[in-house]
Amino acid sequence: MTKLITVFGATGNQGGSVVRAVLEHPVLSKEWRVRGITRNKSRPDAMRLVGRGVEMVEADLNSKDSILNAIQGSDAVFGVTNYWEKASLDHEVQQGHTLTSACLAASIPHLIWSSLPHVSKITHGKLHNLHHFDSKALVEEYIVSVGQPATFVMPAYFMSNIPGGIKKTENSEEYTLSWMFKPDTQIPMLDVPRDFGKFVASALIVGPSSQHVLASSGWFTPTDVCAAVEGVTGKKCVFSEIPVNEFGGSKELFDNLMMIREYEYYGPGAKDGVERSQSGVKEVGGWEEFGTFEGYLRGVGFGEL
Ligand SMILES: NC(=O)c1ccc[n+]([C@@H]2O[C@H](COP(=O)([O-])OP(=O)(O)OC[C@H]3O[C@@H](n4cnc5c(N)ncnc54)[C@H](OP(=O)(O)O)[C@@H]3O)[C@@H](O)[C@H]2O)c1
Repeated sequence: MTKLITVFGATGNQGGSVVRAVLEHPVLSKEWRVRGITRNKSRPDAMRLVGRGVEMVEADLNSKDSILNAIQGSDAVFGVTNYWEKASLDHEVQQGHTLTSACLAASIPHLIWSSLPHVSKITHGKLHNLHHFDSKALVEEYIVSVGQPATFVMPAYFMSNIPGGIKKTENSEEYTLSWMFKPDTQIPMLDVPRDFGKFVASALIVGPSSQHVLASSGWFTPTDVCAAVEGVTGKKCVFSEIPVNEFGGSKELFDNLMMIREYEYYGPGAKDGVERSQSGVKEVGGWEEFGTFEGYLRGVGFGEL
């Protein structure tokens, strides 16, 4: 009998990637059915998924009853919250708690939670404004504390964050990239649509492990990013480092960049963890390749008019 995975955020980046990874995998696609969650089944994204054989069900992460109804009969649930909708730590934590308690009440055998590192803890309070990381880590702590069987998949820095910061002035033949990183700062990056689902699908195969899976396509530096821009456009790309004391953005963004610059995004020692997670995906799921930043730029048509 086929098993059922219910995917929150199915119409979005992360959830959409999870849906495709399961549907396109030679074994998983035969063993698992996919139920996707949306707040509005009539939106075109949701209807397209129905066309691909996904059962779309309406639920809202703010309503435990709607979640309970939506996850009924699931063998696994993928959970993701969108911090930016309210930009509130408390709100996101509340949604995570609601999802977790619904999973417990419905005896869901495996919750795969889209988590992030607990930055305030890792940095001993030095970086305490990175609320969209801490919130997901607090939910993770709650999942563990109530005994919900789970795996924690942590998405790396989205490649999609980057193109908006690569500028070309109108009459110039040159691109510029200004960032609060050093030229050789190592950034774990994720081509979300292409790669994220592979990590979740592999966790599905393994079963609840209570482990952290670091979902990264690979490590790239600002120098690599500029080289990719040059490779795709044939035009020069110049990187310039914004000094830490001249950064003009929000406290949350500052802490986000500092976490990458000084603590490897996932915390010290992350390189080994990323490699282990990639090896796991290769061994368990049979996926051999992960995205590159140049491939990502080509995919989004960067530099084309
Ligand atoms: N940018 C980065 O580098 C980075 C790195 C790691 C993690 N993140 C995290 O990624 C998260 C966003 O994930 P994403 O990019 O996959 O999101 P996304 O593409 O914006 O999609 C959001 C999804 O969540 C669903 N959703 C939103 N509110 C909901 C609610 N109340 N109830 C049920 N479903 C709801 C939406 O479904 P409908 O609209 O169909 O209802 C949609 O499918 C953020 O929390 C952010 O902190 C970002």
